[in-house]
Amino acid sequence: MPSKNDKDIEIGSKVENAVVAVASDDNVESSSAATPATTAAPTAIVVVAAAPPAKAASDETDATSNGNTNAKSTTPTTKEATTAATQEQSSKQESAGLQANIQPMQQSIAGKMDEDATLTNFKVLYVVTQLCGLTMIILVSCWVGIHLGGVGGTANPKLEFNWHPLFMTIGLIFLYGNSILVYRGFRNVRKKTLKFAHAGIHLTAFVLTVIALITVFDSHNLPVPPIPNMYSLHSWIGMGAVIVFGLQYVAGFTAYLAPGWRQALKVAYMPLHIYFGLFGFVLAIASALMGITEKALFSISDYSSFSSSGVMANSLGCLYVIFGALVVYLVTEGSYKRKPLPEDAVLLTGVNE
Ligand code: HEM
Ligand code: HEM
Repeated sequence: MPSKNDKDIEIGSKVENAVVAVASDDNVESSSAATPATTAAPTAIVVVAAAPPAKAASDETDATSNGNTNAKSTTPTTKEATTAATQEQSSKQESAGLQANIQPMQQSIAGKMDEDATLTNFKVLYVVTQLCGLTMIILVSCWVGIHLGGVGGTANPKLEFNWHPLFMTIGLIFLYGNSILVYRGFRNVRKKTLKFAHAGIHLTAFVLTVIALITVFDSHNLPVPPIPNMYSLHSWIGMGAVIVFGLQYVAGFTAYLAPGWRQALKVAYMPLHIYFGLFGFVLAIASALMGITEKALFSISDYSSFSSSGVMANSLGCLYVIFGALVVYLVTEGSYKRKPLPEDAVLLTGVNE
C-alpha cells in the first residue's frame, strides 16, 4: 500500500508533468503569435499551477478510491491528510508560478523603459542636429549675402561662385545628412515610404550639388583669363565626394528600388551601402571645411585680425563638424536603429532589405 509520502510525490510529479505539457503547448501557440517565449512560458505555468493541481488531486483521489476501496471507507483521515497535502502542494506551485511570472514581467517593463529612454535620447539629439543644420544654412546665407557680396548669374562669375558654398551646404551636407537619418527619424512610417523619401531627398541633394559644381566651374572658366580647374586638394576631395555620392545613388537605386536584385544580394550589399553612404558624407564635410578655409584665405583680407567675416566662416566650419558628428552618431548607434513595423512585413522577405 502506498504511503502518504509516496502519494505526495506521485501527485507532485503529475502536477509537474501537466505544467510542462501545458507550458510547452502555450509556447508553441504564443510563438506563432509572435509573443516572446520568455513571457509566454511563465503565464502557462501560472494557469496550470492554479487550476490543474486541483484536478490532479481529484484524479489522484479517484484513483485511490478506485484502486483501494478499503482505504476509502476505513481511513477518512488519510483522505483529509491527502487533500491538505495537495492544497499545500498546489499553493506552493501557485506561488512559485506567480514568482516565475512576475520576474519576466518586471524584466519586460524595465526593457520597455530602457527603450523609451533610448528613444527620448534619440529625439533630443535629432532636434539638436536639425537646429545645427538650420543654423548652418542661415549662417552660410548670411556669410554669402553680407560678406561675399550676394549671388549673381553668368554675367558676374565672381558672384556666380557664391552659389557654390550655398548649394553645397544645403545639398551635399544638410540634405545628405537628413536623407540618411530618414529611417531613424521617421521610424513609425512604412519602410516603402521611407525608401522613396530616402531616394527623393538624395536626388534633390544631387541636383543642388550639380548646380553648385556648374557655378564654380563657370566662375573659373568665364573670367578672362580663366582660372585653372581642379588644382586644389579641396577640389579633389570634393570631386571624390560627388563621385562616391553618384555611384552610391545608382547602386542604392538599382538594389533597393528597381526590381531585379536577388534578396541575398540586397542583404549582402547593405553593409557596403551604409559604409559608402557614410564615407561620402564624411568626405563632403572634409571638403567643405577645406573650401571654407580656401575662400577665407582668398577673400578675407583681415582674416588674421578676427574680422566678423572670418569669425563667421570659422563658426560655419565648426557647425559642419558638429552637424556631421551628430549625423554619423545617430546613424551608427545600434540602439537607435529603426525596428521593422508589422505593416513592413510584406516587404520583409529578408533582413535589412
Ligand atoms: C561639400 C561641399 C563641396 C564640394 C563637394 C566642393 C567641390 C568643389 C570642386 C569640385 C571645386 C573645383 C572647381 C574647379 O576647379 O573649377 C571647388 C572649387 C572651389 N570651392 Fe568647393 N566644394 C564644396 C564646398 C565648398 C565650400 C563650403 C566652399 C566655401 C566657400 C567652397 C569653396 C570653393 C572654392 C573657393 C573653390 C575654387 C578654388 C578651388 O578650385 O579649390 N567649396 N569646390
Ligand atoms: C547617394 C545615395 C545614398 C546614400 C548616401 C545612402 C546612404 C545610406 C545610409 C547611410 C544608410 C544607413 C541608414 C540607417 O542605418 O539608418 C542607408 C540605408 C538604406 N538605404 Fe541608402 N543611400 C543612398 C541611396 C539609396 C537609394 C537610392 C536607395 C533606394 C531606395 C537606398 C535604400 C536604402 C535602404 C533600403 C536602407 C536600409 C534602411 C534600414 O536600415 O532599414 N539608399 N542608406
